[in-house]
Amino acid sequence: MVVKPKVRGFICTTAHPIGCDAVVKREIDYAKAQTAAGKYNGIKPKKVLVIGSSMGYGLASRIALAYGAGAATLGVMFDRPASGNKTGTSGWYNTQAFEKYAHADGLYAKTVNGDAYSDECKKEVIDLIKSDLGKVDMVVYSLAAPRRTVGDVTYSSVLKTTGAPYTNKTIDLRNNTVSEVTIEPATEEEITATVKVMGGEDWEAWIDALKAADVLEDGAVTVAYSYIGPKITHPMYFEGSIGRAKAHLFETSKRITEKYAKEGIKAYISVNKALVTQSSAAIPIVPLYISILYKVMKEHNLHEGCIEQMYRLFAEKLTENGAAETDGEGRIRLDDWEMKPEIQDEVTKLWNDLNADNFKQYTDIDGYWSDFYELFGFGVEGVDYEADVEV
Ligand SMILES: NC(=O)c1ccc[n+]([C@@H]2O[C@H](COP(=O)([O-])OP(=O)(O)OC[C@H]3O[C@@H](n4cnc5c(N)ncnc54)[C@H](O)[C@@H]3O)[C@@H](O)[C@H]2O)c1
Repeated sequence: MVVKPKVRGFICTTAHPIGCDAVVKREIDYAKAQTAAGKYNGIKPKKVLVIGSSMGYGLASRIALAYGAGAATLGVMFDRPASGNKTGTSGWYNTQAFEKYAHADGLYAKTVNGDAYSDECKKEVIDLIKSDLGKVDMVVYSLAAPRRTVGDVTYSSVLKTTGAPYTNKTIDLRNNTVSEVTIEPATEEEITATVKVMGGEDWEAWIDALKAADVLEDGAVTVAYSYIGPKITHPMYFEGSIGRAKAHLFETSKRITEKYAKEGIKAYISVNKALVTQSSAAIPIVPLYISILYKVMKEHNLHEGCIEQMYRLFAEKLTENGAAETDGEGRIRLDDWEMKPEIQDEVTKLWNDLNADNFKQYTDIDGYWSDFYELFGFGVEGVDYEADVEV
């Protein structure tokens, strides 16, 4: 069938298999070229479990570790193949493409499609590690999910403030217009639910389960991803309901490291840059900030996408013996370039001056949209979007 984008608000309900393949190949080519140029001087795990491996930061982690460290990768995703007149999800096509290229390059790559929060999925992964890999020596935890079911309770995460309502500029992605939005505070119950979904409980459960099944090497490293960002987004993010979940994730990293100190297992939080992914598009205010940030970082030649960020994480910030370059609080800062004072000063100035009339000039909104379409395999150079494709 001929596949066209069907965008509804911040989500696209179709995905293009050839386009997704091309985007994955481009990320692989980037990693291969960096490695060939001798840029990989970091952590060298042999067998890596990537939870949330099909898109965004998780997919880029998988690519960077496979093509930087030469690691075997076992992925976990929650995606669906095509059915009826519906295409598969982009994560589905990305994973097909990754496995195809990895196998061609002689790298082990398998993926479990299931709900990572569930015990069944953990068991399936553990069985596969036992039969194929023996043990893993690294675990990347890169889930971004709207809900989590525990027993018969389903928790839904919310993107709200805590304490007081917050009003600021936002972009309405349905019609590309800038307006003001007021974000209401989350209730205590909503905050608890957000922490359940996006906090560290499930990360710790994974590490405990892997350890109990004796499939985690001594000295293994595990990393999960977080975000801090500038003051303008703090009420919405860092101090918002999602920020509470990220604080819990950070506390969890310390707890895991303490709990398994004897085995030398180290858990880290990497604070990453704000980027267009399926998850970040859903957050109010943040997409407008991202489109200004893209403009400024591109002008300063400091712009990075998911693969550049993740390659830098494993090649430079994490060392071969499992130590990491961290800030005073023990967090890895991959947002170091985003948070440079000269970048943030310019972003703040543009943010303050921006209005509905000048926003095209003050933002890289075209860059934002082109990244957005690429998430679903659209707008990729060299792909014939009029051609019939096997979905
Ligand atoms: N995008 C950003 O700007 C940004 C910045 C800093 C940190 N982060 C963090 O990075 C992490 C990954 O985010 P992303 O933006 O790459 O997200 P994403 O939406 O691109 O990817 C999420 C991944 O999780 C998987 N997933 C979702 N629910 C699942 C489930 N129940 N079971 C198994 N797999 C499931 C998806 O299949 C996908 O592979 C999150 O912790 C996020 O908060 C994101």
